Amino acid sequence: MARLTRRHFALLSATGAAAALAPRAIAQTTAPLIARAIPKTGEQLSAVGLGTAAVFDDDDAQTQAKAEAVIKALAANGGRLIDTASTYGDAESVIGATLADAGGRQNFFIATKLEAPDAAELRQSLARLRTQSVDLLQLHNVSDPRQSLRQFNQWKAQGLCRYVGITSTYHRDFGAVEAVLGREKPDFVQIDYSLDNREAEKRILPLAAEVKAGVLTALPFGRGRLFRAVRGKPVPDWAQNFAGSWAQFFLKFLLADPRVTAVIPGTADPAHMVDNLGAMRGAMPDSDQRRRMVQFVEAL
Ligand SMILES: NC(=O)c1ccc[n+]([C@@H]2O[C@H](COP(=O)([O-])OP(=O)(O)OC[C@H]3O[C@@H](n4cnc5c(N)ncnc54)[C@H](OP(=O)(O)O)[C@@H]3O)[C@@H](O)[C@H]2O)c1
Repeated sequence: MARLTRRHFALLSATGAAAALAPRAIAQTTAPLIARAIPKTGEQLSAVGLGTAAVFDDDDAQTQAKAEAVIKALAANGGRLIDTASTYGDAESVIGATLADAGGRQNFFIATKLEAPDAAELRQSLARLRTQSVDLLQLHNVSDPRQSLRQFNQWKAQGLCRYVGITSTYHRDFGAVEAVLGREKPDFVQIDYSLDNREAEKRILPLAAEVKAGVLTALPFGRGRLFRAVRGKPVPDWAQNFAGSWAQFFLKFLLADPRVTAVIPGTADPAHMVDNLGAMRGAMPDSDQRRRMVQFVEAL
């Protein structure tokens, strides 16, 4: 099967990805890209990435083709962050094969997750991703306040990753996340945050800012729940100056918070990837508009 080549990446901005855009979204691509500084280093990271939970689970031709199309769309529209995990089925292998064939590993910011500070698990992730090192190595689903990042920090010192982080989307574990975040001061925390799920605003975002941890927002659409809630409804008039689609409405709510470094919506659809990347361009909602967005969603 044909896989991504450098030429494919170069051609894409002029062809496939643009064709997938709605007219209003195309207008947004002329605006400058929004990138955020990673707090500990100042390195710029494009603010919309790709989540890969449950989309590239199988290492077969069909999944590989989907991954290639989505990653092409990501690269052609200014994105570079791909979030995956050792436990996301075959996603690491599928991503690794795609990037190896594209010769484009250095153009991407690869974040993966381990279940434990286990060298064998890390070796497996690096082998599947076909890389010597990842950009961000995260301890997945922190659940115990005593969990240590000592081994992750050693791996960082050895050059096996450039940043370390922790993740959780379980609110019962937010106490453990706060404890580990406050004590270990990782470079990143990945937490569930969406327009209809704002618990992280109270507990995690303020602490992340205090310890200078970048924030990746998992589940920015509530696993698609937000789209189901607005099905059949147009984006309201008062949001038209900043949101060309519902996806951009939901993502820009998150990106308008300066503590959020990047959002990582999951998708297996290149047109959705392009739509999501549109949230990196154009105006952001101000604080009054953000309040209105909350009221709007609460009234659905
Ligand atoms: N503990 C953790 O560390 C943890 C836990 C959960 C998730 N995560 C990370 O967070 C990422 C995001 O979470 P998620 O993928 O579960 O949920 P999500 O991003 O909240 O929602 C994904 C859903 O939205 C749909 N979608 C995406 N873009 C769309 C668009 N523009 N228009 C319409 N529908 C769209 C997708 O369908 P299509 O495929 O059809 O686009 C999919 O059904 C994960 O992929 C993973 O990387 C981390």
